[in-house]
Amino acid sequence: MLIAVDGPAAAGKGTLTRKLAEHFDLARLDTGLIYRAVSLKALELGDPSDEKIAVAAAEGLSFSDLDLAGLRDEAAGNAASKVAAIPAVRDILLIFQRNFAANPPNGKKGAVLDGRDIGTVVCPEAPYKLFIDASAEVRADRRYKELQERGDEAIRSAILRDIIDRDERDRSRTVAPLEPAKDAKVLDTSDLDADAVFAAALNFISLQD
Ligand code: DC
Repeated sequence: MLIAVDGPAAAGKGTLTRKLAEHFDLARLDTGLIYRAVSLKALELGDPSDEKIAVAAAEGLSFSDLDLAGLRDEAAGNAASKVAAIPAVRDILLIFQRNFAANPPNGKKGAVLDGRDIGTVVCPEAPYKLFIDASAEVRADRRYKELQERGDEAIRSAILRDIIDRDERDRSRTVAPLEPAKDAKVLDTSDLDADAVFAAALNFISLQD
């Protein structure tokens, strides 16, 4: 079983894919973490927007890097969106992601991957494709609440601006831009809570069988 979940920043992909992985006993890969890890490793080597440095960071990536401190910070998300626009970086990470989908770890029989281009580029053959969306305002509110609950300092207007900038960068890049696959089920979650999104996803998956 292979499930592809795409969508913009803070749309709720992580919550949904955790529930799907548990429900169907699948391996889960949050591909945003890969781009985040590359951006942090590139920062250690120098300027992440320098293609040579970003490529070296991508080539050196290992699973243990997905636990790097600071990976889930807003700054890492923004830096990730920049290295993600470099085609050579995407080519290297494509192999990493396809390997995961083809050989899910821990003896799992399938995988759920979330990101921006899973249904369009990484796993276009996936039988189940979801595109999770919500208005930028709603996503900023969710992210603001999440950061507050974690005890992190957050300014809502800055989060909204970052989300809008990141959307624009992820949607307008020339390689693998953020967009729903033609055969993806688009779910606008602006007015749905996490349980309702999960129920809608399960319903869609059952209709494909
Ligand atoms: O899902 P996220 O917010 O953790 O992703 C961080 C950035 O990584 C995102 O803004 C764009 C990039 N990304 C990508 O280009 N392709 C993916 N499959 C996943 C993430």
